[in-house]
Amino acid sequence: MIVHQSVMPEEVLANLVPPETGGLFIDTTVGEGGHAEAFLQRYPTLSLIGLDADASILDVARERLSPYAERTRLVKAWFGAFLAAWDTPPAVDLILMDLGISRYHYEASGRGFSFDRDETLDMRLGADLPVTAADLVNDSDPADLADILFRFGEEGNARAIVSRIVREREKVPITSASRLAAIVAGAVPAQFRHRRTHPATRTFQALRIAVNRELEQLETGLAEAVRILAPSGRIGVITFHSLEDRIVKHFFREKSRECTCPPEWPICQCGGKAALRLVTGKPLTASEGEVSRNPASRSAKLRVAEKPRVAPSGASAAEVDA
Ligand SMILES: C[S@@+](CC[C@H](N)C(=O)[O-])C[C@H]1O[C@@H](n2cnc3c(N)ncnc32)[C@H](O)[C@@H]1O
Repeated sequence: MIVHQSVMPEEVLANLVPPETGGLFIDTTVGEGGHAEAFLQRYPTLSLIGLDADASILDVARERLSPYAERTRLVKAWFGAFLAAWDTPPAVDLILMDLGISRYHYEASGRGFSFDRDETLDMRLGADLPVTAADLVNDSDPADLADILFRFGEEGNARAIVSRIVREREKVPITSASRLAAIVAGAVPAQFRHRRTHPATRTFQALRIAVNRELEQLETGLAEAVRILAPSGRIGVITFHSLEDRIVKHFFREKSRECTCPPEWPICQCGGKAALRLVTGKPLTASEGEVSRNPASRSAKLRVAEKPRVAPSGASAAEVDA
């Protein structure tokens, strides 16, 4: 059963348009196949490679995309590694990254992504990863655990949360998602317990990012995507929190810069050419209608860039919002 609603499908389709001759699209985070299906439906000669680190969600995509099987290849892979291993000439027309996890993971994976479920605290997207969320929570040095919560969750109460975790894990190891959520809720000051978001939101986000090395994947994936895009090829990235969005924004800004000489030099010595042209200066966000139909889209930001055919003539680095 499909549970995930694709985010900003119209905005993605409007900004990632394949060539009339067909084109090759890599959906690096195919999930349950929502975006992929929209592309395959709209463009009858488009070929698609769909990647996902999670073998079980790929089964859902495989069934959904079966009417397009002759144009579709689904691969269980981490996108950073897959794109890095791509050694054919640059011939990829479109690349999409719809980051993070799917509603499927909260509702159907049984791997401890939801606060209110008595599920094993695992959080690995791929069973090939060596460390689970329970390993981090029970075995990490307290300073390292606080660092994870602070860096990957921007959790201001990291120290208080970790000292409560350490006290509780000494009694009995923390192995379930619902127990961890209750421990975090008990550790934060009262005013954090009555907000719209659960007090354990940032802790869960941080553990998930650390377990799946999500930010490393993103940095590698972006660099490799630029390498393998065809001239005029486009990349679209949908992010859901500021850590991811900052990485994409800085990467696009850096790659859309022509000259990399120190700013005080009066004349350009490097002769640098931009590797990307920005298609979206400010990121696109979901419409009010979409947010009311699908609250998960509230924090989504879509940024799009294009690999220039010759010297770029579009938006410049200065046009990326600060
Ligand atoms: C937001 S969902 C994608 C939803 C999909 N676009 C749709 O419309 O149905 C993100 C998916 O990316 C996968 N994922 C996250 N990081 C990944 C990575 N580094 N490599 C491969 N897959 C990844 C997750 O397992 C999840 O299924």
